[in-house]
Amino acid sequence: MTIHARITGTGGYLPEKVLTNHDLERMVDTSHEWIVERTGIHQRHIAAEDEFTCDLAERAARRALEAAGRRPADVDLIVVATTTPDRVFPSTACLVQQRLDIHGCPAFDVQAVCTGFIYALGIAEKFVRTGSARCALVIGAETLSRIVDWTDRSTCVLFGDGAGAVVLEASEEPGILSSHLHCDGKYEHLLNVPVGVSSGLERLASGEGTIRMKGNEVFKVAVNTLGRIVDETLEANGLRREDVDWLVPHQANIRIIRATARKLGLPADRVVVTVDRHGNTSAASVPLALDVAVREGRIRRGETLLMEAFGGGFTWGSVLMVY
Ligand code: COA
Repeated sequence: MTIHARITGTGGYLPEKVLTNHDLERMVDTSHEWIVERTGIHQRHIAAEDEFTCDLAERAARRALEAAGRRPADVDLIVVATTTPDRVFPSTACLVQQRLDIHGCPAFDVQAVCTGFIYALGIAEKFVRTGSARCALVIGAETLSRIVDWTDRSTCVLFGDGAGAVVLEASEEPGILSSHLHCDGKYEHLLNVPVGVSSGLERLASGEGTIRMKGNEVFKVAVNTLGRIVDETLEANGLRREDVDWLVPHQANIRIIRATARKLGLPADRVVVTVDRHGNTSAASVPLALDVAVREGRIRRGETLLMEAFGGGFTWGSVLMVY
């Protein structure tokens, strides 16, 4: 019998504090109109000072478990996608495991920036399909606000904090049909945080530890690359554009999302958009968007979803699945 990997529950969590475009107008030389026109973003959520990535991840995970009708004790794999872990070590996945009072199962972080959740889901899917796990918790969680330069108007308007999670279980019914993961490190200079642990924690603390981006160039590569991943995913499954019911894209910029939707020939009401409310939450963006659409009753069981993302590295990827 073929073992499939199927999402049985979704969950999301957003910190309480909301930062609107009008709030940003008081911080940098920008305007609500500019931000909406160029990005589609109206507001983003920001973690409280004493709220860490693990806190957001735990809340999203508990909601996903509840939706799946599972208890923490059922979980036998935890994968957390994050670029903003609480600590150097242990990994955020280990911290989440401890919070959930789970003991012994493998738990690790995946770092692929905005593509992190797609990478994590692609990895967890292989554990489940090969019988190495039966009930995986896959989480994307970020406190990106901690690595944003709040004086740089070209980046600070884009990002937000949040977490999304799914429970991925072994099933006789089809679930994930294919996952496609890519990276091309030659583009690292277009989007990065230029320092890290090995290059010096003192440089991180001195203000160099923030996101640097050549937005215009990132935009162009993102649109082309996501167009290509749509073709690759459909071809790998012998499907046509009209076989896809929903696009659940990474939420970076409404113009990038619309370009990918056009490539798929999907009308706006078949594209999940949360970027207006959440901004770009990096690894959290795809599972948060999925959770919103599932809870609103828009995405239904048996429908075919294309999830995709693009991020620093550059990394990019997609997952095609039957929900
Ligand atoms: N408010 C007002 N003006 C701003 C601004 C802001 N927040 N940020 C930049 N500008 C200005 C620039 O200084 C520039 O002014 P100039 O023409 O006088 O030099 C002008 O707006 C145009 O800048 P540009 O960078 O060409 O704008 P853009 O249309 O490319 O939009 C982004 C900028 C960042 C919104 C867009 O490039 C983008 O979304 N890129 C992809 C980013 C992304 O998704 N990154 C994450 C990938 S996971």
